[in-house]
Amino acid sequence: MGNIERVKTGVPGFDELIDGGIPKGFNLLITGGPGTGKTIFGLQYIYNGAINGENGVYVSLETSTDGIKNQAMQFGWDLDKLEKEGKILILRIPMDVVKLDLFSAINDAIKKINAKRLVFDSLDALAINIDMFTIPVAYVGSRNRITYTGKSRRRITYLVMNELSKLKTTNIVITASSQDEKQITIDGVSEYASDGVVVLKSLALGETTNKTLEIKKIRNTKVNGGINSYEIDQNGLSLFGN
Ligand SMILES: Nc1ncnc2c1ncn2[C@@H]1O[C@H](COP(=O)(O)OP(=O)(O)OP(=O)(O)O)[C@@H](O)[C@H]1O
Ligand SMILES: [Mg+2]
Repeated sequence: MGNIERVKTGVPGFDELIDGGIPKGFNLLITGGPGTGKTIFGLQYIYNGAINGENGVYVSLETSTDGIKNQAMQFGWDLDKLEKEGKILILRIPMDVVKLDLFSAINDAIKKINAKRLVFDSLDALAINIDMFTIPVAYVGSRNRITYTGKSRRRITYLVMNELSKLKTTNIVITASSQDEKQITIDGVSEYASDGVVVLKSLALGETTNKTLEIKKIRNTKVNGGINSYEIDQNGLSLFGN
């Protein structure tokens, strides 16, 4: 549609479903249950960008830098090498500092490698550990920030999405899905606060696992709707038949 610049995820079969890629600057939410492939999707996006001239930052709240690198290496994605070449940066967010200015750290990382892509893994881990972070709610003058110190999961989600939108990068934001049928994600607001929503589901059926990917919305985009099957193999995540 139109002249919107699009960013290819490089996940085989996925970009075709969303008019060629994620609209530049968007926050695309990837949600799903444990082990559905959210992290793999994010890593694939960062890896494909880096080997095609778009540097990326992977913000990890859940897994150590080595853990992330090992997971990627299973698919032959050598993040260690790309990091040494300055094409990616894994920003491991520590949980043992008193308070971390989260968006200062993210902004520094983006500047350092001139990143065009960013993955935030994950919003639900942030919400659980909110005591460890300061997140801006307002700016007074050019320097002074007022930061959030409350604990509302919904408020945090909006604040983080808003800060992510201000970055120049195109972002994949990961969060856990809900068991409650009335909402998509665990906080019930990320699906509204993001520009696009992709739901991953994994359902065990006898000896096989039925994995489905559903695009719930992507603003400014003609979406090929419906539910698509996907698989994870030695090459990473791909839509079935691709
Ligand atoms: N080489 C592989 N072949 C097939 N499946 C694999 C392979 N490597 C990993 N997987 C599958 O990928 C899944 C893990 O993916 P990933 O870590 O991206 O999930 P996640 O959604 O991020 O989980 P969590 O919510 O725990 O963070 C596992 O369930 C595993 O079955
Ligand atoms: Mg994960």
